[in-house]
Amino acid sequence: MTEKKKLRSQAWFGAEDLHGFLHRAWMKNQGWPHDVFDGRPVIGICNTWSELTPCNGHFRELAEAVKRGVWEAGGFPLEFPVMSLGETNLRPTSMMFRNLASMDVEESIRANPMDGVVLLMGCDKTTPALLMGAASCDLPTIGLSGGPMLTGRFRGQTLGSGTGLWQMSEDKRAGKMTREDFLAAESCMSRSKGHCMTMGTASTMASMVEALGMGLPGNAAIPAVDARRTTQAHLTGRRIVEMVHEDLKMSKIMTRKAFENAVRTNAAIGGSTNAVVHLIALAARIGVPFTLKDWDDLGSHVSCLVNLQPSGKHLMEDFYYAGGLPAVLKELAENKLLHTDALTVNGGSIGENVKDAPCWNRDVIHTYGKPFKAEAGIVVLRGNLAPNGAVIKPSAGTPSLFKHRGRAVVFEDIEDFYRLIDDEALDIDETCVMVLKNCGPRGYPGMAEVGNMPLPPKILRKGITDMVRISDARMSGTAYGTVALHVSPEAAAGGPLALVKNGDMISLDVAGRSLVLEVDDATLAARRKAWKAPEVPARGYAKLYVEHVLQAEQGADFDFLVGSSGAAVPRDSH
Ligand code: FES
Repeated sequence: MTEKKKLRSQAWFGAEDLHGFLHRAWMKNQGWPHDVFDGRPVIGICNTWSELTPCNGHFRELAEAVKRGVWEAGGFPLEFPVMSLGETNLRPTSMMFRNLASMDVEESIRANPMDGVVLLMGCDKTTPALLMGAASCDLPTIGLSGGPMLTGRFRGQTLGSGTGLWQMSEDKRAGKMTREDFLAAESCMSRSKGHCMTMGTASTMASMVEALGMGLPGNAAIPAVDARRTTQAHLTGRRIVEMVHEDLKMSKIMTRKAFENAVRTNAAIGGSTNAVVHLIALAARIGVPFTLKDWDDLGSHVSCLVNLQPSGKHLMEDFYYAGGLPAVLKELAENKLLHTDALTVNGGSIGENVKDAPCWNRDVIHTYGKPFKAEAGIVVLRGNLAPNGAVIKPSAGTPSLFKHRGRAVVFEDIEDFYRLIDDEALDIDETCVMVLKNCGPRGYPGMAEVGNMPLPPKILRKGITDMVRISDARMSGTAYGTVALHVSPEAAAGGPLALVKNGDMISLDVAGRSLVLEVDDATLAARRKAWKAPEVPARGYAKLYVEHVLQAEQGADFDFLVGSSGAAVPRDSH
């Protein structure tokens, strides 16, 4: 009986008065017997299933496996939907809705009778949205990723989600691939349930869940259709009930040490630049001091161990068979790059979880002594073009371009880019620096993944595949190139990026951490006087977004969502 009083859900289901009757009676229309309300842990299963989010299309089955585990451990599972974010369908960009989905998650958890939560996450933005929303409530919580698709195969070759598409799209534009082959490749790339199977944003964020200690060991890589993914879901259901009894809240797991582990892990897996904004936003929700500078200080010198697309050649299925993330974490631990005492959701430390992790394929997961790419973590650039920072992912770039000075070719916004890029008369060669403006959090609400601008056809025809590109946008985790992203302040907020003109000289120095616009201050001041801020949308969510979104180096969260309100039970108004 003592335990019943402690459980949050009993504030709804435990009373024998009007309120208790009301809360139980309506639930009983689903056929629940009276004793499920007897004080057992109520586990909310937060589901991002949607047919418009194909990467999460199998989540109703996954939820059933979680429920088996919850029942078995003596809990009462209740599945609930939240806004789902399908990367490939949402316009203008799914990132615009990450914060909205996180509000849905936070308020759904706080307003409902639940003692613990399982977060079902897969497609890119579903993972940070659910973690951020749940963090602002801080109940015992486990993340369960949906798992990657099986390896894509097209005419005898492997084909990676996104990465293969960027390559084929460039080949088609350069006239090297026919329309028929291009269309045939579609169904070959996505041939099973699951999320992108390159080390794109979804796989990166699934790895972040595991590195933060928020998922059970093995969470990141088990393919969506592998029976062991169902087992993982079952075990997650069992474990969340125990976590409620142990009062093991998110804030006990997502500590500063956990975030440091995540940054180094991101470097070791060649992870997505999108993790930068998501983890900064997540840390701010849970009250952990964590900045853009930490990414460079902690991660840039860490080597990439994982030979996966887009930085390498293999795919997530190979990664799982080679040992998955535990094998990577073990390498980091043995090289003093992991806080081995960081607590995880299974109740053990991350060091204990991975100390015996095997590796079965050293071409996929390299040792730290013989890394796949040395010192490959995300680098933070600064200079008069990015006073508050920009990021670049060296493992996906071309080393010969890491120190480069070139003439700017400017695209004022994404429409300008699409209008000009295929024009044979465009004054550009491979030594130029492509600059894309007005695609940051406010400028292209949501900070679209357009920073890896496709190259002009006349340059592609020369066989050149990379140029220096600079933008306030993001880039898909599946993309590659020497691309400086997340330039802050963004152009639409009046950052120096807004002042760049065609013909200006720009210097990039990755080793020197600098991004410099070689224009004198007086000229820039004169250009600034002529600059006009873009109009704010007139109404609706777009207006709320533009008025409240923070800049990239602050995680692009809303200013009013930073922090936590806890899970205190709201007053019952009945
Ligand atoms: Fe959903 Fe890539 S499109 S994970």
